Amino acid sequence: MKIAPSVLTADFANLENELASIKSADLLHLDIMDGHFVPNISFGSHVSKCIKKATKLPLDIHLMVTNPVEWIKDFSKANPEYITVHIESNDAHQALHLIKELGIKAGITLKPDTEIEAIKEYLYLVDLVLVMSVEPGFGGQAFMPSSLDKVRKLKELRKQMNFNFLIEIDGGVNGSNIDQVRDAGVDIAVIGSYIFNQENREKTIKDLKK
Ligand code: DX5
Ligand code: ZN
Repeated sequence: MKIAPSVLTADFANLENELASIKSADLLHLDIMDGHFVPNISFGSHVSKCIKKATKLPLDIHLMVTNPVEWIKDFSKANPEYITVHIESNDAHQALHLIKELGIKAGITLKPDTEIEAIKEYLYLVDLVLVMSVEPGFGGQAFMPSSLDKVRKLKELRKQMNFNFLIEIDGGVNGSNIDQVRDAGVDIAVIGSYIFNQENREKTIKDLKK
């Protein structure tokens, strides 16, 4: 299982060193929030491009914005590996096609209260399904174990329909639930505060990968 630290909880006054402290991770998760789709504002494409210059890790951009179609071209300039949009945002289908047209892997994500039914018609198209295990908007929230039912269902669907999207989980993942997360079939775990609240992050990432 791959580990994708979320920089949302990092010390932005010290970002270059923060990024250097998580070099052994597999991807870097960038939480983009517009203050409208979620009640929080994080950072934009300029910061994302600066982050790209300061890390060797592939970028995994999670757009928590009402109108992703307006932002995808801008964020594509940070050369991410993935751009993921919420099924609850406007024109999600058009957004997914735009991401693919730009040669970037496309992800779809759903809030805890949204059923898998809502994304089923896009599973043929996407490279990644991001299951939210917290209500989007903030780091440091408690993990919602019910999200693992969605992970198991997605794993089954992927097998039945012969799709090849990866399954990612995001929110409240830590050292005490990582085994359940792995056993449910998650391919990439997004982890923010649990990693950035530790002193020795490389050791934390190593232990999470065990
Ligand atoms: C929440 C974000 C998550 C969150 C993860 O809206 O999508 O990526 O920052 O952080 P932790 O691991 O602290 O829940
Ligand atoms: Zn996220």
